[in-house]
Amino acid sequence: MTDNTALAIVILAAGQGTRMRSSLPKVLHPIGGRTLLGHVLHTAQQLPASDVRVVVRHERDRVVQVLEDIPGVEAVDQDEIPGTGRAVQLAVQALPDGFDGDVLVLSGDVPLLDVDTLAALLDEHRSTAAEATLLSATLDDPTGYGRVIRDADGSVARIVEQKDASDEEAAVAEINAGVYVFRAASLRDSLAQVTTANAQGEMYLTDVVRLLRAAGRQVAARAARDARIALGVNDRVQLSEAAAILNARIVNHWQRQGVTIQDPATTWIDDTATLAQDVTILPNTHILGATTVAEGAKIGPDTSLVDCEVGENAVIRRADATLAVIGAGANVGPYAYLRAGAELAAGAKVGTYVEIKNSQIGEGSKVPHLSYIGDTTIGRGVNLGAGAITANYDDIHKHRTEIGDEVHTGSHNVFVAPVKLGAGAKTGAGAVVRKDVPAGALALSVAPQRNVEGWVEKNRAGTAAADAAARAQSAE
Ligand code: UD1
Ligand code: CA
Repeated sequence: MTDNTALAIVILAAGQGTRMRSSLPKVLHPIGGRTLLGHVLHTAQQLPASDVRVVVRHERDRVVQVLEDIPGVEAVDQDEIPGTGRAVQLAVQALPDGFDGDVLVLSGDVPLLDVDTLAALLDEHRSTAAEATLLSATLDDPTGYGRVIRDADGSVARIVEQKDASDEEAAVAEINAGVYVFRAASLRDSLAQVTTANAQGEMYLTDVVRLLRAAGRQVAARAARDARIALGVNDRVQLSEAAAILNARIVNHWQRQGVTIQDPATTWIDDTATLAQDVTILPNTHILGATTVAEGAKIGPDTSLVDCEVGENAVIRRADATLAVIGAGANVGPYAYLRAGAELAAGAKVGTYVEIKNSQIGEGSKVPHLSYIGDTTIGRGVNLGAGAITANYDDIHKHRTEIGDEVHTGSHNVFVAPVKLGAGAKTGAGAVVRKDVPAGALALSVAPQRNVEGWVEKNRAGTAAADAAARAQSAE
C-alpha cells in the first residue's frame, strides 16, 4: 500500500453466536491454535492501522481478555441496540475526534482472511472513487449470507440478508463476506440513517450500501480470489470447515518449506508451530501450540505434541507430549507420555509405556520400558531397567530423585524420593531404594530367595501343578 490515508480497523465481536449453542462466546472458539477473533486480530495487526477497535458485548470480559496486551487495540462496548450497523456506529464514534481516513470493517467470525486479500481490497478502494468497497465471494451454497444485488449495469445496488430476501434474491450466489472499507465521513452519515426495520429488528451495517447508492455515491465489490477465505463461522459445522481449510493451508505451507507430510488429511498443525526443513510427519499427528521441530526430526504416526521443542533428527512415535524438550537424536515411544518439564538431552531414549514428568534425562540415557519418572535428574549414560518407578510423592510433598552418570539399575525398582544414586552405582532386580546409594555401590534390598522343596506336592496334592511337578521330577 503506497497510499498514506489514515486507516482504522473495526472488528465486530459483540454478537452472542446463538447458532454455536455454546457457553463459550463464538469468537473465542479455537481453530489452528488461535481463537476465531485471534486470527482476525493477527491478520489486522499486519496492516498499518492507526487504531484498532473491537466491539464487544456478549461475555464482554472474556472477549476483552484476548485484547489485553495488544498495543493499539481497544474494546468498544455495544449497547442494547442490536446489529452490525450499531456495532460499527459505536466503534466509529470511539475513533479519535475528526478521524477522516478509511475504516476497514472485519468480522470476528470470519477467520480465514489473509492480509494480502485485505491489502488488495484497500488498494482497490483507494484507487477508485467508491465510498465503500466490499469483499464478495461466489458460493455454491450461499445460504445464510447476505446477497450482493447488482443493478443492470453491474454496479452494486444493495445487500439483502437471507431472512429479508425474496426467492429471486436468495438465488443470487454472490455473497457479502462481511468485510468492507468505508470512507469515515460517509460511513458516519449513512449509519445515522440506518434503522431496525427488517426481519431481525437489527441495525444492519449492510444497509449502508443502499443508503450510499441513494445518496448518489459509488459502492464497489471485489471478489475474493478464493471463495473459501470468506467463510463465516456461525455454527459448529462451519467451525470444523474453517479448521480444515486453515489446516490444509498450514500443511501446504510447510510442505513447500521442505517438510514431508505423508497424510495431510490426518495431520493437524497449529498456525503457531514451526517446522524445519526435512522434517517428516507421519499420519494422525498433531503439532500444536508453540511447538518447534528442528531439521530431520521424524514425528508420528499417532503423535501429539503441544508446546514442545524437538531437536534435530529426533524420532517420536505414538507419543503424547506437552511442554517437553526432546533433544537432538532422542528417541521417544512407541506409547510414551511426556508431561510438563520433561527434558530429554541429545540421544536420550524414552521407550514403551513410559511416563516422564518434570525430569531431566541426560545425554544418551535410556528409560526404555514400563516406567514412571517424576521430579528426577538423570545424568549421562544411564540405563534404567524395565519397570523403574520414582515414588516422588509422599502424599503431602513431592521430592526429587537424583541418578548419577552411568548408573545401571535392575528391573522393577522403586526409588523412594528424596534419594540419590551416585555415579556408576548399580541396583539389583526388584530393589526398593530408600537410602542414598554411594557412587560405585551395588544396592540390594530384596531378601535372599528361599526354596521350600516339595511344597506343592504336600499342600496342593492332586492339582495339575502337582502332577506336572511329579512328571518333571521323574524325568530328571
Ligand atoms: C453478516 C452480514 C451478512 C454477511 C455475513 C458474512 C449483516 C447484517 N449481515 O451476517 O451480510 O454475509 O455477516 O459472514 O451485517 N456482531 C456485533 N454486534 C451485533 C451483531 C453482530 O458485533 O449486534 C458481530 C458478531 O459477533 C459477528 C459479526 O458481527 O462477529 C457478524 O454477525 P453475525 O450475526 O454472525 O452476522 P451474519 O448473520 O453472519
Ligand atoms: Ca456470521
